[in-house]
Amino acid sequence: MSADNALVAAIELLKQQRNAVVLAHYYQSPEIQDIADFIGDSLELSRKAANTSADVIVFCGVHFMAETAKLMSPNKKVLLPDMSAGCSLSSSITGEDVRNLKKKYPGVPVVSYVNTSADVKSETDVCCTSANAVKIVNSLGVKKVIFLPDDYLAKYVASQTDVEIISWKGTCEVHEQFNDQEINEIRKNNPGIKVIAHPECPPDVINASDFTGSTSGMIKYVKDNQPEKVMMVTECSMSDNVQVDNPNVKFIRPCNLCPHMKKITLPKILDCLQNETNEILMDEVTIEKAKKSVERMTKIGR
Ligand code: 13P
Ligand code: SF4
Repeated sequence: MSADNALVAAIELLKQQRNAVVLAHYYQSPEIQDIADFIGDSLELSRKAANTSADVIVFCGVHFMAETAKLMSPNKKVLLPDMSAGCSLSSSITGEDVRNLKKKYPGVPVVSYVNTSADVKSETDVCCTSANAVKIVNSLGVKKVIFLPDDYLAKYVASQTDVEIISWKGTCEVHEQFNDQEINEIRKNNPGIKVIAHPECPPDVINASDFTGSTSGMIKYVKDNQPEKVMMVTECSMSDNVQVDNPNVKFIRPCNLCPHMKKITLPKILDCLQNETNEILMDEVTIEKAKKSVERMTKIGR
């Protein structure tokens, strides 16, 4: 048995013994997705795990995602294989920053992207994803909202609504690296290519793209449209994973990897399952307050 096969076998055995589910975000490498029970975007994964009878959740993603899973499954043990797997968006803002913004703009509702810590969510009126951000902002029936923490997503939302957006200077260190010159060059060399971008990209990239959507939105676009050639302007592993289900589509990939996502490895998954280490712990008040902002989003989404 190869070293990798032995690792996979040991993980599968421990999953059964611990009654654990393994969740893998779309940005995880194929070998991690292979051992996962569910693959998806951050919120979808937390929802799916909450609907299982598992005692333990191993989140192969980043810290804010594991926290969100804990909010939705407070009675389950949530483990993150590497506690230093962060996110430049999430770490751009603290609960204290939000409290200060609320003092500066009294009465203005706070909408936070799911890429935020539970602390920030607990100071938030309603959460949003990149897929429903415009709908959530419009649903509030107000003239002005504070929209956190992604400045580019805020600009994208502002372009789609009449509501005034007060933004924060957070950016995704992966998506901010793309630019329109790169896209134009790829279009020149690949006539007819479809370019689809995540809304965390800068505005010049969004403007140069054929479609903008969340990770799930981009996957659906490829599945439904089956373009001959496509460039997914997002974390590079997505293309590897989406390619498997769309063998007739040719993926052209400028490769930007998320260093935080890539901290998750098979040995670390085995280790946290074996020793039940790296548990996400939060106090009950934070859980209750943060959960409300996620529940409000779900209600509006219905
Ligand atoms: P999704 O919520 O679309 O999965 O995106 C998460 C993320 O981190 C994008 O960079
Ligand atoms: Fe955060 Fe960007 Fe990595 Fe997503 S890709 S986890 S937004 S740093």
